[in-house]
Amino acid sequence: MRSFGGVVAVDGASVAVPSGELHGLIGPNGAGKSTLFHLISGYLRADRGEVIFAGQRVERLPPHARARLGISIAFQAVRLFRGMTVLENVMVGAHSWTRHGLLDAALRLPLHGREEAEIREQAASALERVGLPHLASRAAESLPLGQQRCVQVARALCGRPRVLLLDEPASGLRWAERESLSALLAQLRAEGLAILLVEHDVRFVTRLASAITVMDRGRVIASGVPDEIRRDPAVIAAYLGRERASA
Ligand SMILES: Nc1ncnc2c1ncn2[C@@H]1O[C@H](COP(=O)(O)OP(=O)(O)O)[C@@H](O)[C@H]1O
Ligand SMILES: [Mg+2]
Repeated sequence: MRSFGGVVAVDGASVAVPSGELHGLIGPNGAGKSTLFHLISGYLRADRGEVIFAGQRVERLPPHARARLGISIAFQAVRLFRGMTVLENVMVGAHSWTRHGLLDAALRLPLHGREEAEIREQAASALERVGLPHLASRAAESLPLGQQRCVQVARALCGRPRVLLLDEPASGLRWAERESLSALLAQLRAEGLAILLVEHDVRFVTRLASAITVMDRGRVIASGVPDEIRRDPAVIAAYLGRERASA
C-alpha cells in the first residue's frame, strides 16, 4: 500500500511472476501501475506490504540492493544521462553486478581493465538485443523518444536481471520497432526471465502474457489468463470500454 498525501495510489495490489513468464499489468491512467513498479524496484517505499523475491523479503532494501538481486526496471519516464553516449548509458546498468557500483558509473570514474572490458561487452550485447548497436556512440539525448526507451530496456538488460519490470516500453515506438521488441520479450521469457510489462495496447500484451493483472484506482480489479481478462465485465467497464470509447 502506498499513498501520496490523501491519494491512495496502490492498495492491496498483488502480483506474482514466475521465471520464464511474462505477466501483463494493464489499467487506465492513474491506476497505480507505475507506483506498483516503484514499490517492487525500491524507488518508492510502501507504507505497508511485502515484496518477495526468490523467497526473500526485500521491501526494506534500497533500489541498488534489489538490483543486485536481479530486479531491473525500465522507467515509464525515460531517464538517460545527458552528455553520455548511448553505450555509456547502457553500461550504467552494470552497476548491479560490478564491484564499483552506480555512483562510479554516474560520475564516470575510470573503470579498471578487465572489468571495464566486461561491462562494455555486456552493454554492447544488450544494445544489440534491442536492435540499436549502430547507435552506440551517439549522444543519448539526440535520439527520438522511442529509441531512448529501447536504450533504457538495454540498460535494464545490462544489469543481468532475473526479473525485468518494463513500464510502457513500447510507447512511442514505430510498428517495426514494436514487433522487434515483442520478439525480444518472447526470447527473454524463453531464456527464463520473469517479465512484468505495463502496456496500453492490450493486443501487444495478450500475445506475450501468460497472465494479466488489471488495476483501477490503486486496486487489482481482475487477474487471470488473457482470454478471461478480455471477457471480464469489470475489466471491460473500467478499461477496455474506455479504451474503445476513446479509440
Ligand atoms: N510522486 C507522486 N506524488 C503524488 N502523487 C502521485 C505520485 N506518483 C503517483 N501519484 C498518484 O498516484 C496515482 C497512481 O499513479 P501511477 O502509479 O503513475 O498510475 P499509472 O502508472 O497506472 O498511470 C495517481 O493518482 C497519481 O496522480
Ligand atoms: Mg504509469
